[in-house]
Amino acid sequence: MDGSESNTVVAMDCASPRECQTLSVCLLVVVYHARFARARTKSEIDEPARVRVRRAKPRVLTMNDDLVASLSTLVSGRYVTQGAESLNAHTKILTRIVSNRKMPAKGLPESAITMLMHELSVMDSNNFIDNVGVGEREGRIYSPIVAQRVFHLAHGIGRSGDVMAEQPKACGSSLLARAAAIMARDAMRISGMADIGRDVCVLPMATGMTLTMVLMSMRASWANARERDSVIWCRLDQKTCVKAATCAGLNIVVIEPRLCGDELITDIEAIEREITRLGERLVCVVTSTSCFAPRASDDVEAVAKLCEKTNTGHVINNAYGVQSRVICKKISKAWTVGRVDAVVQSTDKNFLVPVGGAIVCCGKRREDLVRAVSTSYPGRASASASIDLFITLLSMGEETWVRLLDEREDVYAYMASELAKVAEEEGERVLSTPGNPISMAMTLSCAKALGVQPTMFGSMLFSRCVSGTRVVAPGETKTVGGIEFEGFGASHSRYPETYFTAAAALGVTRADVNRFTSVLRKTFKDFKKKAAAAAAAAAAAATLAREL
Ligand SMILES: Cc1ncc(COP(=O)(O)O)c(C=O)c1O
Repeated sequence: MDGSESNTVVAMDCASPRECQTLSVCLLVVVYHARFARARTKSEIDEPARVRVRRAKPRVLTMNDDLVASLSTLVSGRYVTQGAESLNAHTKILTRIVSNRKMPAKGLPESAITMLMHELSVMDSNNFIDNVGVGEREGRIYSPIVAQRVFHLAHGIGRSGDVMAEQPKACGSSLLARAAAIMARDAMRISGMADIGRDVCVLPMATGMTLTMVLMSMRASWANARERDSVIWCRLDQKTCVKAATCAGLNIVVIEPRLCGDELITDIEAIEREITRLGERLVCVVTSTSCFAPRASDDVEAVAKLCEKTNTGHVINNAYGVQSRVICKKISKAWTVGRVDAVVQSTDKNFLVPVGGAIVCCGKRREDLVRAVSTSYPGRASASASIDLFITLLSMGEETWVRLLDEREDVYAYMASELAKVAEEEGERVLSTPGNPISMAMTLSCAKALGVQPTMFGSMLFSRCVSGTRVVAPGETKTVGGIEFEGFGASHSRYPETYFTAAAALGVTRADVNRFTSVLRKTFKDFKKKAAAAAAAAAAAATLAREL
């Protein structure tokens, strides 16, 4: 057995965090160690971690009267009392998160979060003063820089049997992971995911790998799992989406969206036909809510109803949809009126943290798959995604989260109106895509008229420090995961327009839009100049060739 999976708490030789930033933290550490060491009787050592955590919590998180009295022999009592009140107020933060199951109403200052991180850190066994680690994994960190980066939280999260389970050697990390999941759930509820299930799984993998895990768990959930080898996938031209299914060993049946005006919408009839055709071979239908215009967010409500009617699994790729209230409402409607087994969303795209995490959730009516993902995760997991989310949601608080959601909606409308102005000036148009609340697209028909490669326009924007746009021209064929996609990029084999996209994603500002449109105007000018120069050079070469 992996020593790390034992419930036994072994003594360790690792020092506690050396960089505790304040006297208050040092005092808490001392108090904690003195008391915890005394409390560790043989019976407690053999008890499950959950029981120990419950006993240890009040002692660790508050400065009591005895200690205040004792410290008052060093500094005036009234100052000590005042300081202790501040300390206790800081440490009540966790209590509030746990009892209300919510993120804080207002964001916390850096000092309070840092202190909380150190407190959680000293609850992990690698930071016990008197511990000696003799297992093969004892949370030792060689580099102080790395130790600082992770607040000395070295044990990761989960156990080999369940990534959401508490880790006996890492009470602090376990608390942090739970609190991060609670706050993420609350943030998603605030965005509009009503009736979100209690279990929310934060995984240290980006969206694509997490989708792979979800699809594998979905397959395993069927009694005849071996026979089920296919997914129905509503086409979305993003390579990861294809690879997520092929990596899970599944065949993909591609459903091309229907072209409706400028917009690409879900073809429900085609999905129904394939559900009937595939029958017992089908693992699930995969829909997507956040995508590049002109593709619209999938009609997840209609698909959910269809899946309920036909007893078909349904997984939603909501990669960056948490930031959109419209999308979140659609999802919660879907899991209320029909079948949704899991919804996957990126932590970085929605919560302004570094790449490397994803959240799996579902509605209250059907939480089995979220639990199955958690229990099928092999081994322990990095705590990084949870740490980033925990710190970020504490520092945002509900107030800032709501403000960010509001600002994004405002910037979406602003970007659409500013792009429309540029389009009119340049003889182009913004494609009409009301079903996509994040991404928008503008035609680039001048490229064809000028006879130049449209992708040059994207390169020119990038070289002028505009990142994130995507130029798509008809006619490109690409093979991804063994599947050939005609018209790759557009999510449709014969999309008629050449265009580029831009997204009003969380955190983008009106100032960014102004800079973008200003660069865009210059780029159009330079693009047309370059095209004219290229055409003149070609004509001169042709004349020369004729004369020779
Ligand atoms: C709709 C969609 N799904 C999945 C992904 C892949 O996300 P990740 O890189 O987090 O795996 C992306 C990336 O942009 C995306 O746009």
